[in-house]
Amino acid sequence: MISKQTIEEILARTNIEPLISGYVSLKRAGDTYKGLCPFHSEKSPSFTVYPKTESFYCFGCGIGGDAVTFIKQIEHLDYPDALEFLAKRAGITIMEDNDKYFRRENRVDRDRVFKMNVDAANFFHRCLMADNPSARAALSYFTEKRGLSLSTIKHFGLGYAPDSFDQLMNYMTSKGYTKDELVQGFLCGKSDKGTYYDAFRNRVIFPIIDVSGNVIAFGGRAMDNETKPKYKNSSDTPVYKKTRHVYALNFARHSCAETLILCEGYMDVIAMHAAGFTNAIATLGTAITSDQARLMSRYTKRVIICYDSDEAGQKAAVKALRVIGEVGLEARVVSVPGSKDPDEYIKTFGKEKFAEVLNGAKIEFEYKMESILARHDINLPQERIRALASLENEISAVYSEAERDVYIQMVATKLGVEPKSIRTDVARIIAKNVRAQRQGESQKAHRTAMGYMDKVNPDFAKAPTVAKHEEAVLGLLLIYPEHRKKVFDGGFLSQDDFFTELGQRIFAYIESAYRSGDVFTDLNEVFSPEEVGRITKMKLTRMNLTDNGDTVLLESINALKGSMQKKKAETASSCEDLSALIARLRSTQE
Ligand code: GTP
Ligand code: MN
Repeated sequence: MISKQTIEEILARTNIEPLISGYVSLKRAGDTYKGLCPFHSEKSPSFTVYPKTESFYCFGCGIGGDAVTFIKQIEHLDYPDALEFLAKRAGITIMEDNDKYFRRENRVDRDRVFKMNVDAANFFHRCLMADNPSARAALSYFTEKRGLSLSTIKHFGLGYAPDSFDQLMNYMTSKGYTKDELVQGFLCGKSDKGTYYDAFRNRVIFPIIDVSGNVIAFGGRAMDNETKPKYKNSSDTPVYKKTRHVYALNFARHSCAETLILCEGYMDVIAMHAAGFTNAIATLGTAITSDQARLMSRYTKRVIICYDSDEAGQKAAVKALRVIGEVGLEARVVSVPGSKDPDEYIKTFGKEKFAEVLNGAKIEFEYKMESILARHDINLPQERIRALASLENEISAVYSEAERDVYIQMVATKLGVEPKSIRTDVARIIAKNVRAQRQGESQKAHRTAMGYMDKVNPDFAKAPTVAKHEEAVLGLLLIYPEHRKKVFDGGFLSQDDFFTELGQRIFAYIESAYRSGDVFTDLNEVFSPEEVGRITKMKLTRMNLTDNGDTVLLESINALKGSMQKKKAETASSCEDLSALIARLRSTQE
């Protein structure tokens, strides 16, 4: 079994702490490491790495497992791709012919898709630089209309998709790609009648490149403002999810240790880079997602939001402030006065002025304060009181007392109110919120303890006590070989003794591993990442028991046996009822 060996070699050559450190900033805490979870938004670290067991677990969201689980989740790869990713990183060559996981029939070959995209990008770029009237028109759109230099055009790999239904398709099929591959990569479409056609026609092209330098998608803009849609972007493909990627981060990551500038569109980003602001990025045609904010947090400490100045842009900025703040990044915001977007601003006022605008970036509270004040005429007492109430609410949501103090001073000065009065109001709001939160939390804690809301093991809530005993037994069986020997050789337990479906599956998994000489299939192959997280927790919490968990094991086995006997008795009696009923039915029919 070569594959098994390969996996073991990959795992042996991968240390989880340095691996995860590449994505999460970890702080040592005893013999573990802690950091902010990359899989959910949190402000205090509940994500823990255990170098001793080469595992990780987040107490906040329940995701956990080993290096493979981590890469599956963070890179959004399936099991074989995650292994391949780690193999590459460890310098291990995978023998495709021998390895059962790496036969390609049913899998998307990501490297092939990337290569296909590079070939297409080169095609588009050559079409832009070609010596013919439509190419010249496209090039002059970039150079004349948008003021880009040739070196900027090269740097971003910009291109032109000719006004044709099959020019790209013909070129790509001549290079050996099938039409279906082109459709899958969103380079071609397929009509209901089954005819294939180029997806981008008569548009200038922006290749979208991920942080590793792979061409993952394309955006195409019409060269006038009448054609609808103005932009046509690749839909999600096997290598592209628009809610997870960020435009130009492949460049910006080299100059954004302090700050990233987040804008709305391709053209804003390109104008900024051309003006020397090489830390500019954009989310493309979507509101910013937590995935994108977390991706940014791998490379920077602070994000300055610089959206369009229309109402939609300003609304989106408020939302972006929140999403970015939630992943622990410092968020600031600027607006570009007298222009519709940063691209136009730089063109009109120049890069020095734009640098000044950036320097005036406001922190979240300042920005909110100004927009609240703009909505109220503070010369009228009633309006002033309303504005004050909104501001006090904002302040009470701030965690740090010192920070609150700064804001209280700002508001006091702006509205001509005593800081002391604002402080009293804020304290009252906080107390009220704390009470409400405690109530909510205790309800939630109760529900969690009872296993309601348990999506990973939905059967848990039906019998929480029994389910906890199941977890104890399974955790101990996974950790200690001697318990496996005892339980399986002695025939102490069978799958039927388990009440939850997940428990049954995990038991069957352990038993089959034991019966084949204690050889375990990788958990990541058999269970979902959420289930792997649960299994990791079952083990973690039973790692350091003094008697290797002997007492707990015995107790929990007894509990399982007892509860199952009861259950069998109950089903048996209901069966009797049923047969009695049938007998009665028969007798009435006769
Ligand atoms: P121009 O300066 O007019 O070229 O556009 P822009 O870069 O300023 O873009 P705009 O502010 O209009 O939109 C921001 C981003 O949203 C663009 O870069 C696109 O990614 C996306 N977008 C804009 N219009 C459309 C559209 O019609 N369809 C789709 N799918 N996306 C769009
Ligand atoms: Mn624009």
